[in-house]
Amino acid sequence: MNTKSSPSFDKRDLRNAFGSFGTGVTVVTSGCKQTRLVGVTANSFSSVSLEPPIVLWSLGSNSPSLDIFDTTGRFVINILSLQQMDLSKRFSSNVPDKFEGVKFGEGLDDLPVLNDCVATIECKTIQRTVVGDHVLFLGQVEKYSYERKPTLLFCQGNYLQGAACEAS
Ligand SMILES: Cc1cc2nc3c(=O)[nH]c(=O)nc-3n(C[C@H](O)[C@H](O)[C@H](O)COP(=O)(O)O)c2cc1C
Repeated sequence: MNTKSSPSFDKRDLRNAFGSFGTGVTVVTSGCKQTRLVGVTANSFSSVSLEPPIVLWSLGSNSPSLDIFDTTGRFVINILSLQQMDLSKRFSSNVPDKFEGVKFGEGLDDLPVLNDCVATIECKTIQRTVVGDHVLFLGQVEKYSYERKPTLLFCQGNYLQGAACEAS
């Protein structure tokens, strides 16, 4: 067991510890064709409340996409399927045009909704708070859709194929 005590935290090592928690993978999108489209691979997504329906995610404060998330005041959580690992890699890279060759439709307020995801959740930002080196966004869900197919998973820095599930 690798044990560390504050204040000697190494950022890379702390990220490894946090990364022990397996998650799904989302691309959070915002903006529109007329202004600028943005999309960021994010596994900080979490559901928060059912009534009212609220979700959260966080974005690094230095992100060049931050201003569009702020000015648009809305975002879409696109939950990736097992077949969409290429999208996760694309939207976590710094290619000049992340949307080039990516298939998407337009949702509420013309926001980009990626095709073929396991689920898409369209939200209106209700709270934005700077927390450490990230900006935490809370959004109220206005529309969603989903289908039952395997979800892309990420754990300990690797993409995983969804294993067979046992009912909880
Ligand atoms: C699986 C995975 C999960 C990620 N989760 C987040 C996240 O929750 N928040 C974040 O700011 N960056 C996250 N990143 C890193 C961003 O995707 C990456 O820094 C991206 O370039 C940010 O887009 P931007 O350059 O437009 O800011 C993640 C990357 C990967 C591969």
